[in-house]
Formats: sequence, structure tokens, C-alpha cells
Amino acid sequence: MELLPDKSSLRDWIASHRHLPRVLVPTMGALHRGHTSLFDRAREEASRLGGEVVATIFVNPTQFGPNEDFTAYPRPLEADLAKCREHGVDAVFAPGVGDMYADDRSITIAENRLSTTLCGASRPGHFDGVCTVVAKLFLLTQPGAAIFGEKDFQQLAVIRRLVRDLDFPVDIIGAPTVREEDGLALSSRNVYLTPGQRAQAQVLQRSLAKTARGIAEGRLETPSAAKEAFLGEFAAATLARLDYFEMVDAWTLQRLDEFGDSEPRLLAAAFFGKTRLIDNVGLS
Ligand code: PAF
Repeated sequence: MELLPDKSSLRDWIASHRHLPRVLVPTMGALHRGHTSLFDRAREEASRLGGEVVATIFVNPTQFGPNEDFTAYPRPLEADLAKCREHGVDAVFAPGVGDMYADDRSITIAENRLSTTLCGASRPGHFDGVCTVVAKLFLLTQPGAAIFGEKDFQQLAVIRRLVRDLDFPVDIIGAPTVREEDGLALSSRNVYLTPGQRAQAQVLQRSLAKTARGIAEGRLETPSAAKEAFLGEFAAATLARLDYFEMVDAWTLQRLDEFGDSEPRLLAAAFFGKTRLIDNVGLS
């Protein structure tokens, strides 16, 4: 496995591997089983295409708000590289902030519809930072396909829109969320939870899954009945503060007033102390 610590080593590596298709897995490091499942999915796809897997590790400052955890975000590079190696990654691009962003940079890519709701409502500018860095990573690594986790469902929808609207020649593949035994979605931020918060954190998944079952089985016929059922279940988590619960169309992220023909997705975010957790489920 090659470690490419800057743009110039990445360019040289790409030049000498030009003939091979690439599958990209962009990450911010602090890798867990959720990420390694993305590497495994990328490996499968790369083998199918006869190509290679490139992972990126970059804690992207432009997607963190002023009061968020950019400085505190874990950066265990050696352990991350070992996981990349174990899961068949061919090259890891891990640039520094100064290499990725000029001090006087003045161009940002903004998505103006899907990004305004859900997490975007409480994290202004977050998805502009994501779109800008993902566009740069696509241009730098030139992949044929890229894998993103469904855990960040709004991010996945925004990136599909970025690719559609700016004509990036990249297939976006969504990969299922990996969970702890009690259902809590794996996240690099789970380490911030106290034992008491951790014990309650699975309420997010439990409430979403129970509500989705109620809709699928026809017991919850309207979005308002579904919301009431979700809130009733969520109330068991006395240490949690709900940020949002929404039922949206999986592709446009527009809120649903009725279930109708669309593909509903249930998304929620909650604070446990200062730690904000997100999760989502489909209906099948
Ligand atoms: O999902 C993430 O880890 C980040 O948002 C991404 C896609 C790597 C962009 O920095």
C-alpha cells in the first residue's frame, strides 16, 4: 500500500497507474468498522472493474462550524493506515490542510436545496464544505466510482446531486450502515459519549426502526401518526435532546405530507450532551 502525503505524490502515483480504473473511499480518518466495510465494498467493485482502491484521510476544516470539534477530532493516522492495509486499500492520500487549501482561497461549491434542511439547518455551511472537498478529491484522484455510507444519508443525497449537476464522471455507490450489537450506528463521535449516554444512544435507531415498521405494516398511515409514534418511543431517552425527526423522499429530501408513491426515508438527529448523533432508516 502506498501512502501519498501530498498532491504532488498523488499526481505521480496517478500518472504511473493511469490505465487502471479507481474506486475512491473518502474519509476523515478515525476509522472504524463502518469505514472498513466501505473499503471492502470498494475492493469488490475494484475487482469487478480490474482496478484499484484509493482511500483519502483528510479532516476537512471547511465542513466544521466555528463551535464544532475540528481541533479535537481524533487523528490516529498509524492505526488508520493499518486498517486501510488490512482491508485491501492500494493507496491512501492523506494531505495536510495547507496542501489542500490556499490561505486566500475564494471558491466554494454550494448546493442550495437538499442542504438547507435536516442537518444543514443546524450546521450552516457544512455541506458547502463537504461539496467543495469532495469535488476537489474527485478532481485529484479521478475515480470511476466512489463509495459513501448511508449513515450520512443527507450527505449521500447531496453528493449524488453534486455529481449530477456538475457532470462528474463518477458512479456514487451508497453502502449500508454498520451498527453495534444494540443497534447504535458506528460513528467516530461515539467515543465522546459517557457510559450513561452510551446506554441510551441506541434509542435513536430503535425509535426509527419501530416507526418504519409501523409505516411498512400499515399501522401508521400518515406522517403525523408516524411522528407521534417516533416521539413516544424516543421519550425513553432521558439524556437525549431531539434535534430533528423527518420523513422525506429518499432522493429529493423533500418532507413528505403523505406516504404515496415516493421512497420514504426516516431521518433523526439527537444531542447527548454536546455530542450530536444522526441515524436514518428506509422502509423495507
Ligand atoms: O463523511 C465524511 O467522512 C466526510 O464528510 C467526507 C465525505 C470524507 C468529506 O470530508
